[in-house]
Amino acid sequence: MTLSEEIVDAINAVNGVHPGFRAVHAKGTVCEGTFTATPEAARLSRAAHLQGEEVRCTVRFSNASGNPKASDAHPLASRGIGVKFHLPGGGATDMAALPLPLFMVRNADDFLGFTRARTPDPETGRPDPDRMMAFVADHPETAAAIQLGLPKLAPTTSYATSGYNGLHAFGLVAADGGETWGRYSWVPVEGEHYLSDPEREAAGRDYLQHEIRERLEGDGEARLRLDFKLAADGDSLTDPTEEWQGEREIVTLGELTVTGVIEEPADGPLVFDPNNLTDGILASADPVLAARSPAYSVSVERRLA
Ligand code: HEM
Repeated sequence: MTLSEEIVDAINAVNGVHPGFRAVHAKGTVCEGTFTATPEAARLSRAAHLQGEEVRCTVRFSNASGNPKASDAHPLASRGIGVKFHLPGGGATDMAALPLPLFMVRNADDFLGFTRARTPDPETGRPDPDRMMAFVADHPETAAAIQLGLPKLAPTTSYATSGYNGLHAFGLVAADGGETWGRYSWVPVEGEHYLSDPEREAAGRDYLQHEIRERLEGDGEARLRLDFKLAADGDSLTDPTEEWQGEREIVTLGELTVTGVIEEPADGPLVFDPNNLTDGILASADPVLAARSPAYSVSVERRLA
C-alpha cells in the first residue's frame, strides 16, 4: 500500500467511507466566476492568468469534513475553497486553500500520524485523548498551529465572509526570470464575519450551501481578493507550520468575483490540485505540498469507482 493510500484510509477512518464523495471536503457548492489580476501581478509573474485580462474560473466552496452530512454550524467546522483558473491559451491552473493560518503538520508521515491520532475509538466513538496528547507532545508545531487556527474555524456568516490561506510558499516568475516567493491568501472583500452563538445554534446543517446559492441566485456576488505575502530572508519556504513573524510586504495579485452556482462539470472529475501550476508559478519544496497530489489522486480514483 502506498503512503497516499494509507493517508486516505486514515482519513476514511475518521470521517467514514462515503462512496462517490471526496475523502475530505465532501460537501461543497460548485460555482463560476471571473478573476482579474492587478498590474503588480503581471509585473511579478508571467503566468497567463496574471496578465490582467479577465479569466474564467470554476470555484468550489466546501465544508472540510469527509462526511457529506457534517454540519456547517459545528463550532469547529472548517471550510475550503478550490479555484480553477481557465487559462486564456487553454488548460487550467489550480489553487486550494483553507481558513487555517498555518498547517498542522510538516510532512506526509506526520499527517498520517495526526490523522490516526484523531480516529474515534470504536468503544467511545471519540478520539482517544491520550493518543492525541502523545502526538502533540512530540509535535509542538501542531499544538501551536491548532491554537492559532481554532478561531478561524468558527462558522462564518457566508463562504464569502471567510478568509482562506494557501499555506505553502509559491514562487512567482517574472518575464525576465526574476523570482518572488510568498504565501497567498484569499481575503473576503466584505470582511471576515462569524456567526454569534445564538445564530450558530439556530443555523441549519447546510446553511452555508443555502446562503451562497441564495446570494448568487439573487443580485449578490462573492468577492475575494488574492493577496501574496512576500517572504523575508530566513522565512521557511518548506515548512507550512512556520509562522512568518512580524510585518511583511503584501502584494494584491487580483480579485475573484463569484457570480453563480453551477453543476459539478460532467466532463471529467473536478479536482483542485495545488501542483497543477502553469509557467510563471513555481511550487516550493514543501513536503506537504508534494504529498497532496498523490493523496488527491487516490481520493479521485475512489470517488469515481
Ligand atoms: C498532506 C496534507 C493533505 C492531504 C493528505 C490532503 C488530502 C485531501 C484530499 C484527499 C482531498 C480530496 C480530493 C478530491 O477528491 O478531489 C482534499 C481536498 C481539499 N484539500 Fe487537502 N489535503 C492536504 C492538505 C491541504 C492543504 C495544506 C490545503 C490548503 C492549503 C488543503 C485544501 C484542500 C481543499 C480546499 C480541498 C477541497 C477541494 C475541492 O473542493 O475539490 N489540503 N485534500
